[in-house]
Amino acid sequence: MSKKNVAVIPGDGIGPEVIKATLEVLEKVAPGQFDFTEVAMGGNAIDKYGEPLPDFSLKTCQNAEATLLGAVGGPKWDNQPPDNRPERGLLGVRSGLEVFANIRPAKIFAPLASACPLRKDIADKGIDFIIVRELTGGIYFGKHEAFKTPDGERAARDVMEYSEHEIRRIAHVAFKMAMGRRKIVTSIDKANILTVSRLWRDVVEEVAKEYPEVKLNHLYVDNASMQLIRVPSEFDVIVTENTFGDILSDEASQIVGSIGMIPSASLGDNNRGLYEPIHGSAPDIAGQDKANPIGTILAGAMMLRYSFNMNKEADAIENAVDEVLKAGLRTGDIYTEGTKLISGSQMRDEIIKRL
Ligand code: IPM
Ligand code: MG
Repeated sequence: MSKKNVAVIPGDGIGPEVIKATLEVLEKVAPGQFDFTEVAMGGNAIDKYGEPLPDFSLKTCQNAEATLLGAVGGPKWDNQPPDNRPERGLLGVRSGLEVFANIRPAKIFAPLASACPLRKDIADKGIDFIIVRELTGGIYFGKHEAFKTPDGERAARDVMEYSEHEIRRIAHVAFKMAMGRRKIVTSIDKANILTVSRLWRDVVEEVAKEYPEVKLNHLYVDNASMQLIRVPSEFDVIVTENTFGDILSDEASQIVGSIGMIPSASLGDNNRGLYEPIHGSAPDIAGQDKANPIGTILAGAMMLRYSFNMNKEADAIENAVDEVLKAGLRTGDIYTEGTKLISGSQMRDEIIKRL
C-alpha cells in the first residue's frame, strides 16, 4: 500500500510544538502509513525566503492529499508590508487549495463542562454546533487599498464581494451537514445593511428548497453573537461568510471552554483538505511547552475522517482525548481547580498512551 502523502506546515509560535505532537499521534494510530513533507509558510518562510508562501510551498500542498497546519504569525513580522505578512501566506494556501468551506465544530466535552463560562442552566442544555465558514471569499480576499483623499487625508478601503456560485456551494455544504445532524441551518448575515448579505440570503433560500427536511433560520450577525451565549443549545449548523465566521468561531471557542480545543477542516470540491486548529500562534507561550496540542490533534483526526476515510482511527484519537480529559489532566488553558496541570508534551504523551 502506498503511503498517504501529507504536507505539513508547522508555521510559527506554538505551531511547531502542536504539529510535532500531532504527527506523533498520527504515527501511533496508523504506523508507517503517512509520508509527511514539511512545508515553509508564514513568518519562518519570510525569514528564510523573503515571502510568506513561496511557490514551491504552495505546490507541495497542492500535490499532497491533505495539508496539516499549526499556526502562523507573530509580533516579529508586524512591520512587514500588508501583502507580505504571515497571514497572507495562510490566505494564499486556503485559496491555492480552493478550500472554500471551513468546518469548525463547537462542542462541550463533558469533562470540560466546568470550563464553560456560561451559566450552568444554559450549558446543561448541551452545546454541539458546527460553524461552516466561507473561507476563500469576502472582504479578506477583496481589493485592499490605502490611499489619500483629494485633501490629503489618509484613507483605506477593503472590498467585500461574493458571487452567487460562492454562496451556493457553501450553502450546500451546510445543508448536507445538517442532514446528518439535527437538521437546522442558521444562516448569519447583515442583510439589514449589506448588499452582499441580501444576495447571501436570497441564494441560501434558493438552496434550502433542495433540502425540504432542513429548517432554515436567518440571523443578523450582531444578534447571532448574542444568541450564541444566550441559547447556544438551539444552534446546529451555522453558515456564514468569511469575516463573520472568523469572529463567531472565536466566540464559540470560549463558549466551549478553550480556543486550544477546537480543530477545523477546510474542504473544497474534492477530498484534498486543509486541517488546522482554530487558535493562532500564541507567541507569548511559544517554546515553553505550555501550548495545548488538542486542537491540532483533533484536526489530525478530522483529516483521517474527511481526507482518508479512516474513521476507526479518527474515533480512536477522539476517544483518547476524551479519556485524558476524564482523567482530569489539563494544560493551562483548560485548567480549573481540582484538576492536574500538565505541559503540552505531557498532554501529547498521555493521549498517545491511551491509543
Ligand atoms: C483564523 C485566523 C486567520 C483568519 C488569520 C490568522 C488570518 O484568525 O483561522 O481564524 O482570519 O482566517
Ligand atoms: Mg480567526
